[in-house]
Amino acid sequence: MQTDPRAAIGVFDSGVGGLTVVRALMERLPFENIIYFGDTARVPYGVKSVETISHYTREITEFLLQKQVKMLIVACNTMAAVASQVVKDLSPVPVLDVIDAGALGAIAASERRQVGVIGTPTTINSNAYARAIHQYEPDVRIYSQACPLFVPLVEEGWLDHPVTRLTAQEYLKPVLAQNVDTLVLGCTHYPLLKPLLQDVVGPGVKLVDSAEAMAEETAALLNERGIANPSRSQPNYEFYVTDVPLRFQTIGERFLGRTLSNVHVVKW
Ligand code: DGL
Repeated sequence: MQTDPRAAIGVFDSGVGGLTVVRALMERLPFENIIYFGDTARVPYGVKSVETISHYTREITEFLLQKQVKMLIVACNTMAAVASQVVKDLSPVPVLDVIDAGALGAIAASERRQVGVIGTPTTINSNAYARAIHQYEPDVRIYSQACPLFVPLVEEGWLDHPVTRLTAQEYLKPVLAQNVDTLVLGCTHYPLLKPLLQDVVGPGVKLVDSAEAMAEETAALLNERGIANPSRSQPNYEFYVTDVPLRFQTIGERFLGRTLSNVHVVKW
């Protein structure tokens, strides 16, 4: 199949959180067109079963493939953890997922081979980060912790709030007790907590932002395959959501760090 380099990159997430990946992509690849899909009607995925998440993932993948995207990015850690194979099986275009990017980022960052991973309950229960990291480096010791309260706290905008700080101290206590030197932010929402988390874990622990790692991996893939957009004009950004876009718009602008327009509601 001949891929059109001017076609958009398809990025998807359970809701608004994947915009952290879009933001990293916009900064790293400023001439790429992007189509984003956020399943705002059915979010959160992080507490749902593998069967349900796989079913939703299939629907979103089919939607984006119909838009003729040149590659797919699974921005949602939860979907990547339990349903990335669903996407790969369906897709004729290359697929990247945040877990692989985060795993490679962790390996590059960790000197003592002691890595902490935080994410939603479904991501942590799946053990997907440990599998991805061990596939490259079997000797790395991994300590995981589900942090279910972080998603609502971030959506509330409590990025530097005493409640969030206390919650982080509580969640991270057992991980820090293991003397980790690296902490993977294994959820779309956590990059927004980076300053607070860095404060809680201290300067001796490196934070791996899977959104940034993803943007690097995307740039490498586009170059390798010769499908980077040669155009130097202003790119086109389109956003599709499954529920009324009001909340997506307000929270999304916080995630994206810029104004959000061109938002469409999808009726399945
Ligand atoms: N996007 C999800 C993730 O990265 C967090 C929100 C949710 O639970 O759906 O795991």
